[in-house]
Amino acid sequence: MTEELRRLLLAWYDANARDLPWRVRPAARAAGLVADPYRVWLSEVMLQQTTVPHAAPYFLRFTERWPTVADLAAAADEEVMAAWAGLGYYARARNLLACARAVASRHAGVFPNDPAALRALPGLGDYTTAAVSAIAFGQTANVVDGNVERVMARLFAVEAPLPAGKPELKALAASLVRDDRPGDWAQALMDLGATVCRPKAPLCELCPIADHCAGLATGAPETFPRKTAKAARPHRHGVAFILTRDDQVALVRREPKGLLGGMLALPTTDWRSAPFSDAEAIAAAPAPADWRRVGEIEHVFTHFSLGLAVYRAEGEANGVIWSPRRDLSALPSVFLKAARAGLTALGL
Ligand code: ADE
Repeated sequence: MTEELRRLLLAWYDANARDLPWRVRPAARAAGLVADPYRVWLSEVMLQQTTVPHAAPYFLRFTERWPTVADLAAAADEEVMAAWAGLGYYARARNLLACARAVASRHAGVFPNDPAALRALPGLGDYTTAAVSAIAFGQTANVVDGNVERVMARLFAVEAPLPAGKPELKALAASLVRDDRPGDWAQALMDLGATVCRPKAPLCELCPIADHCAGLATGAPETFPRKTAKAARPHRHGVAFILTRDDQVALVRREPKGLLGGMLALPTTDWRSAPFSDAEAIAAAPAPADWRRVGEIEHVFTHFSLGLAVYRAEGEANGVIWSPRRDLSALPSVFLKAARAGLTALGL
């Protein structure tokens, strides 16, 4: 039964593997092409918490600019952080650089194929280690991301809710792993999860393993995985300041640690549970000027949502980084939104 399920899914992958810029598809692999561990690692780091369509252009820009891990290791921090802007989870970008530099210094610029050495690199947890081991090095490994959890929860109609049910889902995934084609197996499960066994509206009629699916047999496969009710996300308030000087905007670099650490930003107040009064906002501005409230934006982070009131003025300030208004692409999305709101509110 398990062997039949594996055969069906791998055959489906042979015919339907998505064409992704970091991927060596089954036919090419059979012809002797091997995956580049740098590209596999980079794609896996980018794909944590974001989708393939969002990550792909970033992947192409990174690999064009830094074709090898040694090139990335030699890059300036600010350049890499700027190129990462918009992908979110900025601690990951710092780990990305730390990892590239560790590969350069500890391993002469070559990713180690020993899982323990991989796991010891900055930012490599169980998931990324398993993914690189299986996809780049063809080693037997249990690669479990959110897609694979969902496929397992449905295939086996697992009642244990997430997140407590994760170990059970991981053990079920492990029960299907074999030494044969571990990288293709992992990617087949991920592609199935992304394109067929979709979160909201699974396309069971297209599923190669529907006959084996206990979730489908219940009549409501989309209700798996079960989830524990989430605590509501807290809401915070802050003020973002757009200070302009001709066609330049004043930016600051955030403290290295913490949320959005090390990234370029608009100057802001602290973020807190109570909204800011006009007087409080103006008192916290980066420089005295004729500050006007011109709009507001909402942004959702993993652990809270943020409402930013946007204030704007023309003026001078010390200790800021003046950046051309036309090129704010190094800003994380939350500040890009605020900058756009503030600048377009005035038709600028
Ligand atoms: N999501 C994360 N990693 C992936 C991969 N290697 N292939 C397809 N989807 C993925």
